[in-house]
Amino acid sequence: MTSPFENEVQQRLDDNGRNAQLKASADAFMHASTVPKYSYNFAWMGRPVIQYPQDIVAMQEIIWRVQPDLIIETGIAHGGSLIFSASMLELNAACGGPKDARVLGVDIDIRAHNRAAIEAHPMFRRIDMIQGSSIAPEIIEQVRARARAKPRVLVCLDSNHTHDHVLAELHAYAMLATVGSYCVVFDTIVEDLPAGIYPERTWGPGNNPKSALYEYLKDHPQFEIDRDMDHKLLISVAPQGYLKRVK
Ligand SMILES: C[S@@+](CC[C@H](N)C(=O)[O-])C[C@H]1O[C@@H](n2cnc3c(N)ncnc32)[C@H](O)[C@@H]1O
Repeated sequence: MTSPFENEVQQRLDDNGRNAQLKASADAFMHASTVPKYSYNFAWMGRPVIQYPQDIVAMQEIIWRVQPDLIIETGIAHGGSLIFSASMLELNAACGGPKDARVLGVDIDIRAHNRAAIEAHPMFRRIDMIQGSSIAPEIIEQVRARARAKPRVLVCLDSNHTHDHVLAELHAYAMLATVGSYCVVFDTIVEDLPAGIYPERTWGPGNNPKSALYEYLKDHPQFEIDRDMDHKLLISVAPQGYLKRVK
């Protein structure tokens, strides 16, 4: 049973999806804010988090709704997203959710100063980290082993943003997301930004997380793009990247 307020929100999301002017303004902001590295401006509980605030709020909504027992994240960097996820699990637990929920981070290079700061953080009590490439068979096996028998699993992919890497991550991890949960693919925005905007990177239009997820979705009807999320956020590094597992 949805409330009148929820109906109003849904109506607004539908309207947003048709509002070309609003969409163009958001797209212009995404374009203008990428080069000056807007996503590097923020921190969560003291740790730099390389995200746009809108996506952080989206993740909060998902973590509350799903009440995951395990959140798997590829791409740790300074640890802000791990600390964020752990803090949300802490709040879920305080509100009657899973008491022992954990976050598992994977990064090919966990720098010593980042590891030390993450391990010293109060939220570390909910965090495990594995160093290695997220697509290396031995790392995939370790992650799968930790996900086994967990009733609710959420997956977030935010490491190397090339097509091949993200496609391999999707094959390795997406199906660990339980039905009703998500596999969130960050930085799909690369597809929508002009070529050459990341001169020091190998990814760009045609070779990025969005191209990978479109290829993956061709033969994985278990997932649907959460269009409401796109229409809600408008400003996001993960347009069409909120993949909901529906079966
Ligand atoms: C965009 S940052 C992650 C940001 C982090 N999720 C946050 O929100 O603050 C990308 C990270 O992916 C890591 N990375 C790059 N290639 C990788 C690979 N093959 N396997 C795992 N991690 C990788 C990098 O070392 C870097 O720390």
